[in-house]
Amino acid sequence: MGLFDEMLKDSESLFKIVDALNFDFHPKPLKYRDVEQRFMANAIKPLFMERDGTHLLVHGKPGIGKTIAVKQVLKDLEETDADLEILPIYINCWQKNTTYKVVIEICEQIGYRLTQNKKTEELLKIVTQKLNSSAVVFVFDEIDKVEDYDFLYTFLEQIYKKTILLISNYKEWLIQLDPRIKSRLNPQLLDFKPYNNLETKGILEQRKEFAFQSNIWDNEAFNIVVEKTVITKDIRSGLHLMKTSGEIAEGVASRKIKKNHVDAAIRKLDELSVKDLGLEEERQFILNIVKLNDGKKIGDIYKVYQENSGKSSYKTFRRKIDDLAKGKFISVKVIPGGDGGSTSIISYKSVKKLTDF
Ligand SMILES: Nc1ncnc2c1ncn2[C@@H]1O[C@H](COP(=O)(O)OP(=O)(O)OP(=O)(O)O)[C@@H](O)[C@H]1O
Ligand SMILES: [Mg+2]
Repeated sequence: MGLFDEMLKDSESLFKIVDALNFDFHPKPLKYRDVEQRFMANAIKPLFMERDGTHLLVHGKPGIGKTIAVKQVLKDLEETDADLEILPIYINCWQKNTTYKVVIEICEQIGYRLTQNKKTEELLKIVTQKLNSSAVVFVFDEIDKVEDYDFLYTFLEQIYKKTILLISNYKEWLIQLDPRIKSRLNPQLLDFKPYNNLETKGILEQRKEFAFQSNIWDNEAFNIVVEKTVITKDIRSGLHLMKTSGEIAEGVASRKIKKNHVDAAIRKLDELSVKDLGLEEERQFILNIVKLNDGKKIGDIYKVYQENSGKSSYKTFRRKIDDLAKGKFISVKVIPGGDGGSTSIISYKSVKKLTDF
């Protein structure tokens, strides 16, 4: 029997739908966020009566269902059978972090293709005009990652019927916002609290049912996954752990997922931060350099970055380092030093890992 015959013989997968463990999988029903979703629906409701909506700053820690809850509200909105058209626009500002990129993305979403050779200003004008033919719900996810707010100012001023939902890990983001925008936005705060133990277990159970064949998880093994997820408070770490544990169990042709597979998965995942996978390439690149140069001064790390063909200016590099610190991928410690000023020490290891708990 050949190598692959052997492999396939015992490779009846433990997974039923492995994609159900992806971060962008939308389980239905979405559990435990009805109150928050209702709050958002209420902010949108005035649009149905042809009035301007309420704006919200949706905030809370990573991995607790902000994005998924908001996206599902938009989906419901699309499926609503109302006379009035309300256009949902969702933008991830980590990826689209300038007014130009935001406006190009909106053009794409509304099917406007003549964007070549047009300047930001011109595109903003076109988009504003087109959007004003209906009411609009804007979602700007990861809003604290944008580099300029011209688009926000323009939409606040010039789109007549809109609800703007901003999502961020930090409600403090509001404090530093330009007062001209802040006063126009005047958002209500919607606080997403981390899930409690039972809720965390409920969410992971639901995903287990979607993703795996029945009865292949040992209770003890599954409970470790739940425990670790409760500690990190980030559902992503649980999804990741389940997937890796399943792969490890399959790799040794086990018919069950057991404690030793989960333990191995925990060790493996510690090499990654749970949110790593969502990082854009440049930040991933910088993060890897920090990992390899743990505890060094920022200037030295920038040198290594340049030696490895990093192209950003120091200022941009510094900002990306700050972003990574905000996302808790790395830590930045300012110490006295340099030419009478201060310098920053950048560490990767000080970020808590699953095995630390
Ligand atoms: N109530 C829930 N039911 C099912 N899955 C959930 C629920 N809440 C979160 N998840 C899952 O957890 C993962 C993280 O959720 P989400 O992307 O919404 O987090 P977030 O709060 O937006 O985090 P971040 O601030 O890091 O962007 C997703 O894969 C999502 O499917
Ligand atoms: Mg999110």
